[in-house]
Amino acid sequence: MTSQPIEIHDVVKERYGAIASGVTNSCCSTDDGCGCGTESILYDPAMLEGLPVDVTGLSLGCGDPVSIASLKPGETVLDLGSGGGIDCFLAARQVGASGYVIGVDMTPEMLMKANGNKVKMGVHNVEFRRGQIEALPVTDNSIDVIMSNCVINLSPDKRAVFAEAFRALKPGGRVSISDIVTEGAFTPEMRADAAKWAECVTGAIDVDEYTGLMREAGFVDIQVVDKTNAEGIIERKEGMPRIFSARVTAFKPQTA
Ligand SMILES: C[S@@+](CC[C@H](N)C(=O)[O-])C[C@H]1O[C@@H](n2cnc3c(N)ncnc32)[C@H](O)[C@@H]1O
Repeated sequence: MTSQPIEIHDVVKERYGAIASGVTNSCCSTDDGCGCGTESILYDPAMLEGLPVDVTGLSLGCGDPVSIASLKPGETVLDLGSGGGIDCFLAARQVGASGYVIGVDMTPEMLMKANGNKVKMGVHNVEFRRGQIEALPVTDNSIDVIMSNCVINLSPDKRAVFAEAFRALKPGGRVSISDIVTEGAFTPEMRADAAKWAECVTGAIDVDEYTGLMREAGFVDIQVVDKTNAEGIIERKEGMPRIFSARVTAFKPQTA
């Protein structure tokens, strides 16, 4: 009895719209914790030097997918659920002027924030596009690296997200993801709680199911690089599965 996809998208959009607009100044609506972190515990502070507080202050991820992406100058990068743009701006520094970074987000208020940050920073190799990660606004085989930070857990159709990521990547392209995963599953009743889903909790799925969906989409060499207990940022209630922040990498085969 999972909530319907349209309802999930609406609730998620409302939540992140409110955060971007400053209506809610925290990722968590209550004091019982959610899956979103703060930049100071997610990233090596040296990486964040020179980023404006408007960027670092809107860091809503659950890990650092940029450091494990091994980005190279000239590469084209796509960030799924780019929010205020922190990972796009970090990636832009690494791919340089000959590279390009596209952030996709479905929440208009987040896109406004990200675009405002882009102008403030005078960055020219980053573009933010409105769209859903289940139907990416990019052409086939056009991306070298896909990143995502605490977003795929929010999708009501993770199979479509991985299929789209596979479609968008060039043969030999790679993914670098930080996300919330579980060991075990939330009950159907817990998954029907759209508010908790939007807090990056009950939309999370078992890590083996997650990597299984990636394999089904065609990805190879799928590695769970690290998996950290997320109970510091998500309060685990009785009956819930164990909750982790994980980083996952994978490749699209050269022959695909
Ligand atoms: C937890 S925030 C993470 C933002 C950013 N990745 C970061 O690390 O700060 C989730 C973001 O994903 C976006 N989002 C969630 N579900 C989405 C979907 N299905 N399609 C596009 N964007 C989505 C939200 O609008 C929000 O900006």
